[in-house]
Amino acid sequence: MSPPLLSLERIGRTYRAGGRHVRALEEVSLSLHAGARLVLVGESGSGKSTLARVAARHEAPDQGRVLYEGVDVTHASQAELRPWRRFVQLVLQDPDLAIDPRYTLRAAIREPLVVQGWPDDGAGARLAALVGLSPALLDAYPHQASGGQKQRAVLARALALSPRVLVLDEPTAALDASAAAHVLELLLELQDRLRIGLLLVTHDLRVARFFATEVAVLHQGRVVEGGPPARVLDDPQHPITRALVDAVPPAPAGRAAALPERDE
Ligand SMILES: Nc1ncnc2c1ncn2[C@@H]1O[C@H](COP(=O)(O)OP(=O)(O)OP(=O)(O)O)[C@@H](O)[C@H]1O
Ligand SMILES: [Mg+2]
Repeated sequence: MSPPLLSLERIGRTYRAGGRHVRALEEVSLSLHAGARLVLVGESGSGKSTLARVAARHEAPDQGRVLYEGVDVTHASQAELRPWRRFVQLVLQDPDLAIDPRYTLRAAIREPLVVQGWPDDGAGARLAALVGLSPALLDAYPHQASGGQKQRAVLARALALSPRVLVLDEPTAALDASAAAHVLELLLELQDRLRIGLLLVTHDLRVARFFATEVAVLHQGRVVEGGPPARVLDDPQHPITRALVDAVPPAPAGRAAALPERDE
């Protein structure tokens, strides 16, 4: 069997801030296979964003190993990581921080190709079509686009180099419910088409329930519970998971918080 796209082995990460040590991650082990949608949930400060950054190797852990397709990249230098930027891409919550306001959406989407010195071949239009962004918007500037449209542009840019793994840190948290639901549906569709692995961070259990093939619950930097969403979310074993499940507001009448129904 081929190795997982991404493996995290006993990851530890400590920050030193103002003379204090904050243990953001401790002994975290996870793996992500092609076609999987691993969703990481946990309360604020539980270490989700740290894990996303370590998984995408935007920062190094101080304990444990990060492997991409079985290759140890834990301490790879920037130069050594460069070819892996094709392999894994990190998408953050706020599209306004990801896109330069002086760039048109087309220029923003094409940027990784330019940086890698790849030929363009109408990539802007192709990538816009992939994420359902109207071609008319390619020449717009970010301030002329909605939050959902900007996040689609961010996804198009993340896909420009045909990565095998997307790590998404709260990708819909800055969007209204309907735009958020559309972006999640788009991610499902993209995964179906591209067979990528998705590691998605959210504090919203409804997102996890809708989206995950597998859920991991993080608490104070440790994974306290993990497994298929039907098991973890419908029959939580750990008190922290139970507290998270109990904190989800009851679904409003009609469509539950605009998340589309899904049968699987
Ligand atoms: N660069 C940093 N320097 C110092 N401490 C940090 C740094 N980044 C994160 N931390 C600390 O590490 C812990 C985990 O933070 P992290 O941002 O990963 O949590 P999170 O689960 O993403 O929270 P949220 O849901 O609020 O986004 C917190 O205690 C945080 O204060
Ligand atoms: Mg975070």
